[in-house]
Amino acid sequence: MNPISPFFLVQLQILLPPASYSLESSVLEGYSHDESSQKAVMPLAVVWPENAGQIAAVLKLCNEQRIPVTARGGGSSLEGNAVPSPGGIVLSLEKMNTVLEILPEDFQVRLQPGVIYDDLNRQLARFGLFFAPGPSSGDVATIGGMVGNNAGGMNALRYGVTRDHVLRLQVALADGALLWFGTRAMKSSSGFDLVRLMVGSEGMLGIVTEIVLRLHGLPERRTALAHFPTLETAAQAVFEVMRSGILPGALELMDAVSIQHLNIFKKWSWPETPTLLFEFHGAPRGIAEELEITRQLCQEIGATTFREAASPAEREQLWAGRKEITRAEQDIFAGHIFFKGDIAVPLSQYVPTIQKAQNLAEEHGLSISAFGHAGDGNLHTTIPALPGDAEACIRAEKLMDDLIRFALSVGGTASGEHGIGLAKRKYLSEEHGAAVEVMRRIKQVLDPNGILNPGKMFLE
Ligand code: MLT
Ligand code: ZN
Repeated sequence: MNPISPFFLVQLQILLPPASYSLESSVLEGYSHDESSQKAVMPLAVVWPENAGQIAAVLKLCNEQRIPVTARGGGSSLEGNAVPSPGGIVLSLEKMNTVLEILPEDFQVRLQPGVIYDDLNRQLARFGLFFAPGPSSGDVATIGGMVGNNAGGMNALRYGVTRDHVLRLQVALADGALLWFGTRAMKSSSGFDLVRLMVGSEGMLGIVTEIVLRLHGLPERRTALAHFPTLETAAQAVFEVMRSGILPGALELMDAVSIQHLNIFKKWSWPETPTLLFEFHGAPRGIAEELEITRQLCQEIGATTFREAASPAEREQLWAGRKEITRAEQDIFAGHIFFKGDIAVPLSQYVPTIQKAQNLAEEHGLSISAFGHAGDGNLHTTIPALPGDAEACIRAEKLMDDLIRFALSVGGTASGEHGIGLAKRKYLSEEHGAAVEVMRRIKQVLDPNGILNPGKMFLE
């Protein structure tokens, strides 16, 4: 029997139409986990509000009843941010998926949080605009989820992460108050920046009900793939290209193991050596020149091949390679637990960090793949381990631990763009020290009863 209290259920029924909530166990099961390897937790109920007023009303009720609320977008979190808090409900923003207003002359869009990244960009393309960050899960990730996580992606190097694009937010607070934060002006020095505070708060300070984003003009693009004999030569190419004054739209790295996984999954035969994916954004003549300078630099440094995408289909293929590494690994290692890393380090430490990962893997007798956003120092790693092999899981956990501590020791962060969620909680204090107490106090002020996604980010 569902442990939801009859009083809470009756109140929910008063607030929401029947199609906007469910207590069905098959439905609850689907919302009990996200894309992370964190243990599933069955929620008491799933609600699908259709407007800000309903969200505010549900929060007010949950606040009075002390029922935890976990907001959910596309459920693509890799750190457990969207796993329901025990004894709580899931508030899914899937039905709030309308682009409300495109303001081409202001380079802005106003939208609901459940809009999917790729759908938004399809609509914006008609106006010659785009929302830049470029998460690899853009076909499922929602803008609300990206705001909650401060998601980055392939284009963050040139345009910035989600936080750099959010101008205004309508937020429902834990007590049901609905407020607007921010301004539509391109800059402001008026008051504390509550928008930047909300972005990346993992649904723990309020629930975003409407968003105003800043956009960029859709540039011409040229895309190229370069294979290198070693990680060092690939890193040198990253450095030399950026030092030449070129700011690529994307600069991605895949190590030999990632390419092996891709080759198996896609039945391709890309050379299994460190590989860089470059994309140049801008006016046609400018990017043609940038591509040629990059080709020359890569060749001088020792790239074994440098191939430009000759058609839109080939460009799609190069990008599919980069974006589908995680899917390839989920497919090849079906049934495994994934120990995933999302560290970011100062650029000079990027290769030492990958080397550290490889050395640790050898030491622990495990296989690790490393790929990521080389241009901004963000490295993703995956270690698959079978759940039945407790000993391998312990070694994988230890490897991740050592790697994250290494990243922190060289001035990096435990999470470049996936958030803290459940998986990275123990590193928050190591990274921020006494500043975590300030974070806790902010949480206490905005959510005194601790109903908003409790158990995430902070170790109890
Ligand atoms: C990516 O860049 O592909 C994602 O952020 C990371 C991942 O899926 O591990
Ligand atoms: Zn990424």
